Amino acid sequence: MSSSLFSPIQLGPYALSHRVVMAPLTRMRAQRPGNVPHHLNAEYYAQRASNGGLLIAEASQVSPFGQGVPASPGIHSPEQISGWKLVTDAVHKKGGRIFLQLWHVGRVSHSSLQPNGTLPVAPSAIPAEGNAWTANFDFVSYETPRELRTDEIADIIESFARGARNALAAGFDGVELHGANGYLLEQFLQSRSNQRTDAYGGSIENRSRLLLEVTQAATNVFGAHRVGVRLSPYGRAYGSGEADPLPLYRHVIRELGKQGLAYLHLIEPRSSGAGRADVDHQDVPASAAGLFRPEWPGVLIAAGNFTADTAMDAVESGVADAIAFGRSFIANPDLPERIRSGIALNPYDRATFYGGEAKGYTDYPSFNQQAA
Ligand SMILES: Cc1cc2nc3c(=O)[nH]c(=O)nc-3n(C[C@H](O)[C@H](O)[C@H](O)COP(=O)(O)O)c2cc1C
Repeated sequence: MSSSLFSPIQLGPYALSHRVVMAPLTRMRAQRPGNVPHHLNAEYYAQRASNGGLLIAEASQVSPFGQGVPASPGIHSPEQISGWKLVTDAVHKKGGRIFLQLWHVGRVSHSSLQPNGTLPVAPSAIPAEGNAWTANFDFVSYETPRELRTDEIADIIESFARGARNALAAGFDGVELHGANGYLLEQFLQSRSNQRTDAYGGSIENRSRLLLEVTQAATNVFGAHRVGVRLSPYGRAYGSGEADPLPLYRHVIRELGKQGLAYLHLIEPRSSGAGRADVDHQDVPASAAGLFRPEWPGVLIAAGNFTADTAMDAVESGVADAIAFGRSFIANPDLPERIRSGIALNPYDRATFYGGEAKGYTDYPSFNQQAA
């Protein structure tokens, strides 16, 4: 019998009651100074939690050097651990599960966000494309990053390991490594951004090394069955994009497949850039989930421009095991229930995606509130 979006699924040690997952969503509403999660964030995640449902909390920098936008939460200080505890407690109270996405942005940053105003770091001294947020919420061109020395890479891996330890202390059920959307781990994967000549550059094996070592470091903390990895093989964020993604991503996914992870999370090619604009690319390969499914032995989550209908089809046809929703989950705190009951979705307001307070964050109504 085929599965449906509302049939239960086992994800690592967790028995989920449905397959409508909240995608990681940067909202730039941590408390400053310190980039600390607080009560407003706990309220937002609790609104979106459901009994047996999975939320993937927003990308959170594993070190001050890994920050790329103002007011993104971190997972490197004691205050941040306490702040995240408010969030995980609130979600668990509703019977939900919550993973944290661990983030290092690499070159997708600006010196105003870096400790002591230093340049952002990257595999090679090649700037990202597009506009950088500054610490004051302005936009400027990306700077040319500083190439990481080989002897600094162990620190990067350790910062992810510490992020995982802190996430465990904060009560998260697991972590997702951000290997997508043009950030540091993807910068290492792709030859456009990685022109290193050491053990972390050159061949596909070498370019994959950092992601695999970081994943191993996270599994050492949580156990492999509580660690997921997110990839965007056809993404184009910030000047990313591998000329021929197939051999690279086949290798990465096969190697990750040997680690026994909780899940692989793939972003569909059509949705590259959804964080900054509403795009639906047509000139792209068909489903990444469909393409790479044969390489992946475990749970596969797909994301990117899914509707209720296409999500149901994807799970019923076996292309994916679960579907992560981004923008619809921003605007619909009760998204799983709405999809299950065929209730129309609230439209989202892009103007309030990033920064600010409750408006556009915790004030989207549930269907029950609308009906009352
Ligand atoms: C406001 C916003 C913030 C996002 N932040 C993140 C993030 O922190 N980490 C990440 O991997 N993807 C992020 N994304 C991408 C989403 O997780 C998702 O892949 C994308 O929105 C496509 O899904 P959708 O069509 O259901 O919105 C973001 C997207 C949006 C719109």
